[in-house]
Amino acid sequence: MPDPVQMLIDDHKKVKDLFQQFERADGSREKRKIVEEAIRELRVHSALEEQAFYPAIRAVKEADDIMDEADEEHHVADVLMDELESMTPRHSHYDAKFTVLAESVRHHIEEEEGEMFPKAKGLGDERLRSLGEQMSQLKQQLTRKEGAARRSSPGRARSK
Ligand SMILES: [Fe+2]
Repeated sequence: MPDPVQMLIDDHKKVKDLFQQFERADGSREKRKIVEEAIRELRVHSALEEQAFYPAIRAVKEADDIMDEADEEHHVADVLMDELESMTPRHSHYDAKFTVLAESVRHHIEEEEGEMFPKAKGLGDERLRSLGEQMSQLKQQLTRKEGAARRSSPGRARSK
């Protein structure tokens, strides 16, 4: 039975790992590959949160402020990812932009895991179970969609 919070924590591990790989990478080809993979992971992950997890947590008492902040942090990440996708590693600020994306996502992850995810308990076991089911189906759909978008326009990723 998929635990919705654990699913998101697993995604977080994956992107934090990619951020570390980027820090160790040298050579623009390797960096670009890592950046593209991180963006792919983040797009699927944030859509999953926005479409399923966040609306569910909004229903929990006193979650509004945290959720508003999270929405804004997703927005900042979207802007940075859009910009990165219109750049190549030759741009002077490519590395810096990805580093800022990584820093802000790390901060966002800390807030989610520290403040937001504990609120999920307020949903109760039954709701959590159905949310987990919903999220694992949605994740498969989103992953397929993201893959298809990339195949149809490699490089400059997805259509909005
Ligand atoms: Fe998030």
